[in-house]
Amino acid sequence: MAKVDIEKEYQSLKNVLQKYGYHYYVLDAPLTSDEDYDVIYRKFLQLEKDHPELITPDSPSQRIGDKPASQFAQISHKYPLYSLDNALIDQQLYDFDQKIKENLDIEAVEYCAELKIDGLAVSLLYENGLLIQGATRGDGKVGEDILLNLRTIGTIPLNLNFIENKEIPSSLEVRGEVYFPKKSFEKLNEEQIKLNKPAFANPRNAAAGSLRQLDPSLTAKRKLDIFIYSGIIEDSKIKFSNHFDTLQYLKSIGFKINKNIKLCKNINEVKEFCDYWRTERVNLDHDMDGIVVKVNSYEYQNILGFTSKVPKWAIAYKFPPDQAITKIENIIIQVGRLGTLTPVAILTPVNLSGSTVGRATLHNHEEIKRKDIRIGDSVIIEKSGEIIPKVVSVVKEMRQGYEIEFIYPTHCPVCHTEAINDGDTLIRCPNK
Ligand code: IVH
Repeated sequence: MAKVDIEKEYQSLKNVLQKYGYHYYVLDAPLTSDEDYDVIYRKFLQLEKDHPELITPDSPSQRIGDKPASQFAQISHKYPLYSLDNALIDQQLYDFDQKIKENLDIEAVEYCAELKIDGLAVSLLYENGLLIQGATRGDGKVGEDILLNLRTIGTIPLNLNFIENKEIPSSLEVRGEVYFPKKSFEKLNEEQIKLNKPAFANPRNAAAGSLRQLDPSLTAKRKLDIFIYSGIIEDSKIKFSNHFDTLQYLKSIGFKINKNIKLCKNINEVKEFCDYWRTERVNLDHDMDGIVVKVNSYEYQNILGFTSKVPKWAIAYKFPPDQAITKIENIIIQVGRLGTLTPVAILTPVNLSGSTVGRATLHNHEEIKRKDIRIGDSVIIEKSGEIIPKVVSVVKEMRQGYEIEFIYPTHCPVCHTEAINDGDTLIRCPNK
């Protein structure tokens, strides 16, 4: 085949694969079966093997780079990544609205209400459609270069030029939240326990740990995902007057935007949205810890401006973590596949975030000692993202005097081999 024809074939396969990837990962609506995808992908890989000069960093085969970064370089953000003020009670939400209406001298403000995803903020920079930089938020001014790790996330486009008839900005910075889907998180923790490694406390910690792996092939194994929640477009032709339209545009050029976004005519509609998600969040496959409320119009955002730390046009309405009070009926020891002895509290069943909870993890012996947890204690348990609830504290005022201190077993409850303490927080049975 002539060189031009090979290049043509390569480009067209690449386009097809990018499109398939976008429909599969971002739209969650595959255009083809896995088998058909594999056939095309294998053909594509063969072409790359025969003609390595064709490979560019945005190739679907190049998501996992082979060079582990020795350390993360620092990156100065072009525009700072601000944090948000919190509204912990309803009144703070109404005060926020009142202040904005006074400042703008108008009767009602249109807000864009979005889920506050509980993960890690990242920024992605695209030049002429090509992903060239990916960084953590850091302190908002300087973050860490984690591009190689971010490239392993299937829902992050490496190149935006694959959707036909779409103008791509010459320069674009998007921000989003990387998160661990709950289902993948459960699987990851099962694996960790099998490998005798400590389980992650919650999906957020697991996402942070996975993004900061020095070897991107390890990040690639963790099924991370992202929701993009804002964009700064620098292009003389592509301009939007509000946040909502920008998000719709970002969606149209290939980014994954959370579908649960609502344009609200006033603060009462925002409040309804908050109340709805307070209970509904348990049915999502990702954690969220509140609602982000943003003034939709950019003109109004500019008038309102920023304090030194936060925008005056946005606020995070935080959900309190779901807590309940119950009793520890017993403490048992669970033996992991590789011998870790993990204490688990057996609870009087109680309703928490819509499901009945009968167990809580106590993590390790240090935790039991630190919180002075005894059998028979009344305890406050909490689920704030974690799938397995944890014991927050003991209600010592409710002690009757009959509570029993838990004696950590010296031997494995399954095979009775003497357990060993490696000097860290984990106690193990060494018997294979
Ligand atoms: S907007 C200036 N939207 O919450 C506006 N943030 O407490 C800045 N977050 O650092 C952020 N979901 O990591 C925005 N839909 C969303 C969000 C969101 C999660 C995180 C983000 C930010 C933190 C602020």
